[in-house]
Amino acid sequence: MTMENNTLNEKALKSNIKFTMVSPVLGANVECGSVASLSDSEISTIRNGLLENMVLLFRNQKLSDPELIQFGKRLGELDIAPFGYTNNQKERQYEEMVIISNVKEGGVPIGVLGDAEVVWHSDNSYRENPLSFSLLYSVELPDSGGETGFSNMYLAYEALPADIKSKIQNLVIKHDITYNSAGDLRRGFKDSSDPVTAPGPYHPIVRTHPETGYNALYLGRRPNAYICGLSVEESESLLNMLWTHATQDRFTWHHSWKIGDLLIWDNRCLMHRRNPFNPKARRVMHRLQFAGTRPYYDPRALTRGRHPRSVG
Ligand code: OGA
Ligand code: MN
Repeated sequence: MTMENNTLNEKALKSNIKFTMVSPVLGANVECGSVASLSDSEISTIRNGLLENMVLLFRNQKLSDPELIQFGKRLGELDIAPFGYTNNQKERQYEEMVIISNVKEGGVPIGVLGDAEVVWHSDNSYRENPLSFSLLYSVELPDSGGETGFSNMYLAYEALPADIKSKIQNLVIKHDITYNSAGDLRRGFKDSSDPVTAPGPYHPIVRTHPETGYNALYLGRRPNAYICGLSVEESESLLNMLWTHATQDRFTWHHSWKIGDLLIWDNRCLMHRRNPFNPKARRVMHRLQFAGTRPYYDPRALTRGRHPRSVG
């Protein structure tokens, strides 16, 4: 338990919210009853807890879709995901809610991301203004597989050798927009395997979190990534090194889902991935996404020291 978490628990006591760490490096389980009946001050305690712990897990939720969306709206500004960013998808019932699923109805997928592995990524890094938080709520699950993993990018940044930190502090990565994290081509884009010409926005490799003020590594997605100003060979070798570093087990925690679990994470300081699962099994998750701002690097953040959960 860090000091900060004790403080948070003391503050939360009055409102009967309890945070318990789920791993040494990131994440907290939140006991607060139904997220559909929280007070305004409890919502703000939860939002602070999210900034402090990077991932929050709420168990045993029984939420209708409107209740889920209402909870999301109280936590932050919801981002409306563009419809049909891959081909062939069922119409959405609520514009705020995306289905993540491998289930097909009459041959048409009811959602996205299928049943294969979803590789490490940070949501929507291929946009000028990537997402802040993402939320998943489990509705149907396979017996095994489909676990979702997270890696702490504050800690990955802190653990880099000093020479690498200074080498990357003013470099930017081009974040490929061609493929999603399940490897599917986004609608309107052509196949591309050339990192130099693949389309996408530039974001700093070292990203200052706009709310906590701490620095984190910001890598986005590996396929077609390119570090601006370097030769392709130099870019590939630096990216390979950073990716191997950032995805080490010592920075990660994997969640094994139960029905009624609700997970919210902060894309600005984490990457996430998903294990594959049996294609014959059904996995249905309801997902919300939260608007974010353009990534930036502020050198003054260096004086701030370490994020409270990244002291390892
Ligand atoms: C996502 C995502 C992983 C999962 O919804 O952004 O990466 O476990 N999902 O379904
Ligand atoms: Mn994702």
